[in-house]
Amino acid sequence: MCGIVGIVGTEPVAERLVDALRRLEYRGYDSAGVATIHDGKMDRRRAEGKLFNLEKVLDGEPLPGTIGIAHTRWATHGVPNVTNAHPHFVEGVAVVHNGIIENFSELKEELIAEGAVFESQTDTEVVAHLLAKYTRQGLDHKAAMLAMLNRVSGAYALVVMFADDAGTIMAARSGPPLAVGHGKGEMFLGSDAIALSPFTNEITYLVDGDFAVLTAQGARIMDFAGQPVTRTSQISQAATFLVDKGNHRHFMEKEIYEQPEIISHALSHYVDFAENVVKQPDMAIDFGSVSGLAISACGTAYLSGLVGKYWFERYARLPVEIDVASEFRYREIPLSKNQAALFISQSGETADTLASLRYCKDEGLKIGAIVNVRESTIARESDAIFPILAGPEIGVASTKAFTCQLAVLAALSISAGRARGTISADDEKAMIRHLIEMPRIMSQVLNEVQPQIETLSRDLSRFKDVLYLGRGTSFPLAMEGALKLKEISYIHAEGYAAGELKHGPIALIDENMPVIVIAPHDRFFEKTVSNMQEVAARGGKIIFITDERGAAASKLETMATIVLPNVDEIIAPMIFALPIQLLAYHTAVFMGTDVDQPRNLAKSVTVE
Ligand code: G6P
Repeated sequence: MCGIVGIVGTEPVAERLVDALRRLEYRGYDSAGVATIHDGKMDRRRAEGKLFNLEKVLDGEPLPGTIGIAHTRWATHGVPNVTNAHPHFVEGVAVVHNGIIENFSELKEELIAEGAVFESQTDTEVVAHLLAKYTRQGLDHKAAMLAMLNRVSGAYALVVMFADDAGTIMAARSGPPLAVGHGKGEMFLGSDAIALSPFTNEITYLVDGDFAVLTAQGARIMDFAGQPVTRTSQISQAATFLVDKGNHRHFMEKEIYEQPEIISHALSHYVDFAENVVKQPDMAIDFGSVSGLAISACGTAYLSGLVGKYWFERYARLPVEIDVASEFRYREIPLSKNQAALFISQSGETADTLASLRYCKDEGLKIGAIVNVRESTIARESDAIFPILAGPEIGVASTKAFTCQLAVLAALSISAGRARGTISADDEKAMIRHLIEMPRIMSQVLNEVQPQIETLSRDLSRFKDVLYLGRGTSFPLAMEGALKLKEISYIHAEGYAAGELKHGPIALIDENMPVIVIAPHDRFFEKTVSNMQEVAARGGKIIFITDERGAAASKLETMATIVLPNVDEIIAPMIFALPIQLLAYHTAVFMGTDVDQPRNLAKSVTVE
């Protein structure tokens, strides 16, 4: 992943580069670095770990200069240490990189055979060596860049400076995103527009195969053959986002508590509150005439898609093919042009999801994107955009994006049901009324269950393994619960379909493995309770997350029972998501882990 930024201008840049990196830390936080050119000399500061460490280094040894590039790293090749931190310097060339140079081994061998000495274990360093080699051979900087771009393969966003030119930054994109920012007498580059938002809101997004040359006066954009291409700039909405923790200890906590308000805002985009109907969705996809849906996504977004599958199949009688994007893209799934495809992504930049989208596009399917970042690559390459309107999500563990994705999927499945004549006007009105009530119920649940969950999380933190069970839409929710817990508390957790318990995980049940059962009093309740009996009979400890009817109906002894209000099936996944988010959050806080930036993870995954 990694975040990259560059500024060429008239005012000192080091502090502003670090400020921009702060907004890119969601992309990785293994190390960070910054380089500038001043008085004809290129210099850099680098530090292992969080950005804070780089700031300390810069405090001691500031970097002057009005041109610079910077980087925050998510390690792929080479351990996170100072030597592997970017920018990489070779003979007056400085490079920052996001992505993977797939042919780096052969290039490295070739360069070593020619006498190059490598300092780091990174793939990135081959780029700097190639540029140094072409410069030595007499190519000018632009020609050296084009020669280099025609040698490297893989996924990359690259930003480059040359020590003997303090007025130019060069950049190229093949995969991971890059935004060019237009300032007044200054130009900017960043992995996203939010990074650049304090400097400018006029943004030009580079597309794959673009090579850009920036000076303080403007940008020239070309293809990898050096032929000019036209890219129009746009006014980005990113600057309007306020990104701070408010009164909360962590962004994750803030984002959990924001959900009622944010989901209400998201719903207003899809639902006519006066008429209790779904607003006409984007006409680029006609749910009434498609023969099926293909859905793909990664991580939490995939699990929201899995809930969506249940809804589209049940309410719209629409068959859904769904898979994680890293499998979907290579499965060679037979698809027909009559199907539509939906891609769900908070960032809109996830490499595997984007590749799956392009696969479906090549197969001739209409493409819909359920995204948070409307200016993202996935959004831009789609026929229809369904924004989730969650606002910036900073905590690496997704919370509000998940429930907003669910809200959008719920609205779309109702809309599809209406278009296909599989739900009546009365059914639609009733479902919409439930959706409208949802923000109020979410608020109530967040307030009511918090103290109990905080206490329970202390008990949970003593265990090494946790199993989550659910049926129907509670099955993806069980997987999401397990994902949240393992991501931020590092407790091993698995989510299982309750009915699968007896086909394997039951062998693990003993007093050392709590089983969290997610079971609203729905069509599956009795069956899930039977599975709970199987756990209880083997001495398993049960944490039962249910509603008032469910609590009244079950007589089983539990380690804890969390009782939510009775709600309709269409909103149950959003409501039941809240206690599982809080449980993971409080357990992690109790264990003292880095809740917002858990180890080894990153929020935007732009490599395979
Ligand atoms: C990473 C994040 C997850 C996210 C997943 C997909 O793994 O840590 O929170 O669900 O990527 O990201 P996307 O931006 O495509 O939703």
